[in-house]
Amino acid sequence: MANIKDLFSKMSKTAGSDPVSTPEPKKGLPSAFDSILKKIDLNFFAHLDLKELISGKKQVVGLDIGSSSLKLMEIIESGGGFFMNRFIQVPLERGVIVDGAIVELGKLVDALKVLFKNSGCQRKGIVTSLSGHSVIVKKATFPNMEDQELRDMIHDEAGKYLPFDSMDDVNFDFQILGQNEYNPNHLDVIIVAAKKENIETYVEAIEMAGLSAVILDVDSFALETMYEKNYDYDEKDIAVIVNIGASITNINVVKNATSIFTRDFTVGSNSITEAIQSQYGGSFDDAEHMKIEGPQEDSMARRDFQSALLSFADPILSEIERSVDYFRSTYGDEDIRQVLIAGGGAFIPGIAPDLSQRLNIPAEIIQPFRKIGYNKKIMTQEDIERIGPVAAVAVGLALRRIGDK
Ligand SMILES: Nc1ncnc2c1ncn2[C@@H]1O[C@H](COP(=O)(O)OP(=O)(O)OP(=O)(O)O)[C@@H](O)[C@H]1O
Ligand SMILES: [Mg+2]
Repeated sequence: MANIKDLFSKMSKTAGSDPVSTPEPKKGLPSAFDSILKKIDLNFFAHLDLKELISGKKQVVGLDIGSSSLKLMEIIESGGGFFMNRFIQVPLERGVIVDGAIVELGKLVDALKVLFKNSGCQRKGIVTSLSGHSVIVKKATFPNMEDQELRDMIHDEAGKYLPFDSMDDVNFDFQILGQNEYNPNHLDVIIVAAKKENIETYVEAIEMAGLSAVILDVDSFALETMYEKNYDYDEKDIAVIVNIGASITNINVVKNATSIFTRDFTVGSNSITEAIQSQYGGSFDDAEHMKIEGPQEDSMARRDFQSALLSFADPILSEIERSVDYFRSTYGDEDIRQVLIAGGGAFIPGIAPDLSQRLNIPAEIIQPFRKIGYNKKIMTQEDIERIGPVAAVAVGLALRRIGDK
C-alpha cells in the first residue's frame, strides 16, 4: 500500500486555498464536483484504478458499512441531474462491526461479496465511511497560518486537540471553516482523524472482497453531502441532521451546507430492541422482529406497543436533546430551521413530532431522493419512503466523485 500520509499532505495543500465558509447559496442541482465536504476525508488515491482515470470515469459506488446492514448505492448523472441506478442492502450479523470498528473481518468480507454479487454492480471503486469511535471530528481554533504550518502544528500538538498521544499512527485531515468570530487573527478549523490501523482494516476488507477503496469519508459528512444535493437552503440556514443507526447515532449541524458541529454517540436503535427484549422476553432477534413488525395482536395492543417504542427511545432522544442544547449554548442562539431524521431509528412511530417538541424545532424524516431520480417502473413512492432513512448515508457516499476533493 502506498504511503497514505504522504497522500494526505498532498491533498491538504489544495484544501486550505479554498475556504468553505463562504460558498454561494445554491439553487437547483449543484454540480457533482462542488461538494462542500470535498476537503475533509481520509482519501485513498493509492487505490485508484488508473484505467478509470485515463478514460475519465470518476464514477464510484457508495458503500455504507453499518453494524446491522451493508448498503450499496450507485447514483449516475443523467440530463444534468442525478439518478439512482442501484440500491441493495444485506444484513450483517451482530458483532461484525462494533462501535464503528471491524471486529470480524472474514464475515464482513463474505457479506461484501454477497452484496456485490447480488447487486450485479460492475464498478469496483468504492466510497465508504467511518463513524463512531473509529473517527474523531473536532473543531479547534488556531492563529492565522498557512496550510502546511497548520498541518504540522496539528501533528506536533495533537494531544491538545485530539485524544491521541502521537499522531504517527493516525491519519488526519482538516478543513478551514473561516475566521474566528471573536478573534479575526484566528481560524476555526475542523480536524478529522482516524487511527491508521482502523483505516487499514476497512481498506483490507474492501480489497479482500475484490474491490478498491477510492475515498474514505465519514458518516456525518456523507449526510452533509446528501443534504447539500437534495435540499434548498440560504446562507444562514441551519439544519440538524440526526442519523439513528443500530448502534451509533450521528448528529451533524449544517449551516449553508457546511458542517459546523458534529457528534457521534454509541447508542442507537439496538437499545430499543434490548428494551423490548427485557420487557417481553425472547431472543434479540425476536425482539428485533417485534420492533419492526409490531406485536401480532389487535390494533389496541399495536398502538400501546408503538407508544412503548417511543418511550424505549427516550435515552437516544434525550442524548440528541443534550447535544442540540450544547450546540445552542456554545454557538450562540443561532436559528435552526429544521431537524432531519435519518437511519433506521427514523421509523420509530411518532419520533418526528416528539423530537420537534423536545427541541422546539420542526422535525421531519429525511428524504434523500428529493432531487435524485429513480426508476418509477421498479420503485413506488412507498418504496422510496421505506428505504430513504436507511439509505441516506449511502446516497451521500454515492454522490462523491474521484478527484472532487
Ligand atoms: N421499520 C422499522 N421500525 C423500527 N426500527 C427499524 C425499522 N427498520 C429498521 N429499524 C432499525 O434501524 C436500525 C438499523 O438502522 P441503520 O440501517 O440506519 O443502522 P446501521 O447503519 O446498520 O447501524 P450503525 O450506523 O449504527 O452502525 C436497526 O436497529 C433496526 O431495528
Ligand atoms: Mg449507519
